[in-house]
Amino acid sequence: MNLSLHRTAVSDGCQLTVFPTANDAADAVADHLITTVRRNPKSVLGLATGQTPRRVYKSLVDAFLEGEVSFRDVATFNLDEYCGLAASHPDAFAAFMKRELFGLADFDPAKLNLIDGAAADLAAEAARYATLLHKSGGIDVQLLGLGTNGHIGFNEPGSAPDSHVRIVDLSHETLSANQPGLVELRSVPSQAITLGIADILNAREIIMLATGPAKATAVRRSLREKPSTDCPASLLTSHANIHWYLDSAAASALG
Ligand code: F6R
Repeated sequence: MNLSLHRTAVSDGCQLTVFPTANDAADAVADHLITTVRRNPKSVLGLATGQTPRRVYKSLVDAFLEGEVSFRDVATFNLDEYCGLAASHPDAFAAFMKRELFGLADFDPAKLNLIDGAAADLAAEAARYATLLHKSGGIDVQLLGLGTNGHIGFNEPGSAPDSHVRIVDLSHETLSANQPGLVELRSVPSQAITLGIADILNAREIIMLATGPAKATAVRRSLREKPSTDCPASLLTSHANIHWYLDSAAASALG
């Protein structure tokens, strides 16, 4: 059954599919990832945290439990991590990944690459992660969510297109957008380590999942306006193989 309202080519390498609901869009993204892993069990996946991919991860776990896919040989790189949080902290993205995905399917812990937000030397940690990424041969499929301000990973507005793994200050908009998702902390850490825009653009394929009305303006700015560092996701239009999965609410300002 094709649940998509419409599928269009925005440009040569850019596909856009709009689904009736957020769950439909997430399920399509899960199918995309499952197909990727079945074709190449040794895929290197770039993964995001946040509210948007939770349903995707649940569908991946369900598919694993049904025996439809194995993640045994998959390698992963997470996009980002809050500074100051050890992997065991409930608000660390490492802990989120364990709760939502890694701990629920047959991933090999040795192949899961995560940033240590509690490293004593965070600049050295960013450099270590950049080296690991380089040595891995790069990301096959990068899953992204979209910030309400257009951020990708934690590349906030103003991030350079040639930016790499680094420590960043989070914007006020991101601090308040992420507040409701906190498990234990009372406020969002003010800094993070993130893959850079160049690192994201180096992925061989990109999947962007954006759902809900709060993302509509960032979606329009990314897809309908001239690429600009003011809206980091608009820089994705230069990528040769990107697929935007939206629900109708996130697509509502596209016109
Ligand atoms: C998370 C990340 C962020 C989120 C974005 C959307 O690893 O890199 O860019 O994807 O902030 O977050 P949600 O999905 O919570 O709206």
